[in-house]
Amino acid sequence: MKILALNATYRPGKTTTHLTRKALQGAVSVGAETEMVMLRDKDIQFCTNCLTCYKDLESEIAPCTIDDDVSGILEKVKDADGIILSSPVHCGFVTGLMMAFIERITFRLCRPTGAYLGMKGCPEPRLTGKPRAVASIVSAGGMPVEMREYCDMGTPWLKESTVFFNGDFVGDIYAGAVFNKTLEDEDWPRSFLFRELTEDQLNEAFDLGVKMGEAIKNGKIRPFDPEAGLGVKSTVDCCPKL
Ligand SMILES: Cc1cc2nc3c(=O)[nH]c(=O)nc-3n(C[C@H](O)[C@H](O)[C@H](O)COP(=O)(O)O)c2cc1C
Repeated sequence: MKILALNATYRPGKTTTHLTRKALQGAVSVGAETEMVMLRDKDIQFCTNCLTCYKDLESEIAPCTIDDDVSGILEKVKDADGIILSSPVHCGFVTGLMMAFIERITFRLCRPTGAYLGMKGCPEPRLTGKPRAVASIVSAGGMPVEMREYCDMGTPWLKESTVFFNGDFVGDIYAGAVFNKTLEDEDWPRSFLFRELTEDQLNEAFDLGVKMGEAIKNGKIRPFDPEAGLGVKSTVDCCPKL
């Protein structure tokens, strides 16, 4: 059982990375082999909308005209049984790096032959050899967990990424802002600087890794289901209602 984390933070030693490492430790504790790819260290160029991938309806991983590190990452995705998508909350969403990466993989991992919501030409997975567990981890610097709905447009979007991985979403973490002191009025404009991870948040990440590993081990992961995977019918009540 292999679990791959795709981490879109810009700061390798900080919150998103600590949480993701913890989740991978949880997965290791139930027998997984794990790897974390730091997307910031990879050459990931912007999609040019040339539609080379989109026009290929046959390939398992569609070709791309850009020669960078994305193809290598997709080989790891193909091999994996579980994918953890990790990102800081930036501007209420995920980082631009995560967005750029997902743009690049959209039609390389999906072909536009699906039909749902009464529409034809929708993405459906190419990597149908096995289903993959998918989970998300996002880390916020300012917005506490009880105000998540105002600041976490990222998780519902990451949840829909099950389509790329022929996936089944097993859970998410929103690590809301917790500060290492009581903030005074003058501290609030630099509140990100006081953000710290709590043991509870790290434990939650560990448990998510365990949950993913157990679900894979016990054969609980189902192939992509457009109704569940696209939020038409939610299988897990975990995302903010937007
Ligand atoms: C450009 C930018 C936008 C941000 N937007 C938000 C935001 O909308 N809400 C929030 O709570 N934190 C926001 N933050 C703070 C980050 O979420 C926070 O620093 C997070 O812990 C970063 O993850 P990292 O520790 O892995 O770098 C923002 C930070 C940056 C640099």
